[in-house]
Amino acid sequence: MKIVTKSAELKQLVGEHKAAGRTIGFVPTMGALHHGHLSLVKKAGACTDVVVVSIFVNPTQFNNPDDLKNYPRTIEEDTLLLSNTACKILYHPEVNEVYPDKDNRVFDFGSLDKVMEGEFRPGHFNGVAQVVSRFFELVQPDKAFFGEKDFQQLAIIKAMTKMLDYPIDIVAGEIIREVDGLALSSRNVRLSEAQRKEATLISRTLFESKQLIKTGNIKEVANFVVENINRSSLLNVEYFNIVDGNTLQVVDNWSQSDYIVGCIAVFADKVRLIDNLIYKNFYDAHSSCKV
Ligand code: PAF
Repeated sequence: MKIVTKSAELKQLVGEHKAAGRTIGFVPTMGALHHGHLSLVKKAGACTDVVVVSIFVNPTQFNNPDDLKNYPRTIEEDTLLLSNTACKILYHPEVNEVYPDKDNRVFDFGSLDKVMEGEFRPGHFNGVAQVVSRFFELVQPDKAFFGEKDFQQLAIIKAMTKMLDYPIDIVAGEIIREVDGLALSSRNVRLSEAQRKEATLISRTLFESKQLIKTGNIKEVANFVVENINRSSLLNVEYFNIVDGNTLQVVDNWSQSDYIVGCIAVFADKVRLIDNLIYKNFYDAHSSCKV
């Protein structure tokens, strides 16, 4: 595995692989890697010839300065983890390498970024689009891999790829969970022991709610999820939306769409956790790279 910090070197390396006819798979991350990231690297390794992973805590996507400051940075452990995977090139740039000038672009995602994360983290997806578009232009991957845990981010990246006409296949990786159900997240390390234990209530409630969709309407299922989690004194639901998986708009009934997802954000004190559950899906998000 080659570790690269300069864009010019990355461009040259990737260019050589492309000239030799190899396909490029790209996994962008902010580090603090866990098995969710590693499963994306594995997928990328199975479906492309050369895997590039970026580790860059992107300042433009943080609307909360404390969150940026406290975001875990574990580059040594990350490098070690990646050295045992399909990753061939690790790109770990400094902020001024990625943003030599201020990025003033404002993306218009219509209603996609006005809801859920977009509503509670203003500017977040604009920052994600800024950095991912810069990386896409640099790496020019054939396929790029994003986790389904960040369900709205995946939808935004697909929209951006279409909008900017990038010939890149966006591949989704399913949520990887701890054995007790908690969705893997770089933020989990910030949970106290008691919060970590209680956080399993989020996925347990989502799984339980799936049983209710046979008899309960959208409102009843949504109320069940929010009330069940808020019963815990350690957890506080910020939002739970049952949405169309493509438009991310709230649905009124179970037959309104073939693709229905419940998306949730929960605070455990200052630590913000997100998760989601697909209630209904006739569309296969993993079809272009099944691993
Ligand atoms: O999902 C993430 O870790 C980040 O939002 C991403 C896609 C690497 C952009 O900074």
